[in-house]
Amino acid sequence: TQRPYVIDEMISAKTIAARVEALAGEITAHFRGTDKLIVVGLLRGSFVFIADLVRELDLPVEVDFLEASSYGNEMETSREVRIFKDLRSEISGRDVLVVEDIVDTGFTLSHVMHILKGRGPARIETIALLDKPARREVSVKATWTGFEIPDEFVVGYGIDYAQRNRNLPFIGKVRFTA
Ligand code: PRP
Ligand code: MN
Ligand code: MG
Repeated sequence: TQRPYVIDEMISAKTIAARVEALAGEITAHFRGTDKLIVVGLLRGSFVFIADLVRELDLPVEVDFLEASSYGNEMETSREVRIFKDLRSEISGRDVLVVEDIVDTGFTLSHVMHILKGRGPARIETIALLDKPARREVSVKATWTGFEIPDEFVVGYGIDYAQRNRNLPFIGKVRFTA
């Protein structure tokens, strides 16, 4: 019972790659000298972004993942963030960079940050590839943002619609055709 749709390209793979490189430079400068950085990807949406980002960082890093979801297969958030898989490592005393694909209502990032800050990291920062400020319901802002985008339902580069389209190399917007 899914409506037919097409995907219109919004941010090209080339544009994303250039932005990821620039962001990685800023993050490298910010954390320069650390030997205790752990980069935490929020699954599933961040898996493509974190893979590209960590390969551009000129720092020693540990990579870990936490799985959190609130959308399921819907286009609207349930506002209830479920944790499906926790980190493997302890982050107490560590420098932490949380990597998210998109901040929309803000429920996911604020919930995860609340949990992680409670574990006593030395420093904790956030990066989101996309930010949709028009949809914000919870006040949260990533330390670094790739692109601010308008209120469109986007897919690709890790982001899904009903678990599909994560493998598109670009960011596109969903346009219903019926
Ligand atoms: C999506 C996206 C972000 C979150 C942003 O995750 O990947 O994590 O929603 O929305 P919010 O700011 O309104 O919380 P989703 O729940 O779809 O899980 P997924 O990453 O497994 O696709
Ligand atoms: Mn997600
Ligand atoms: Mg999703």
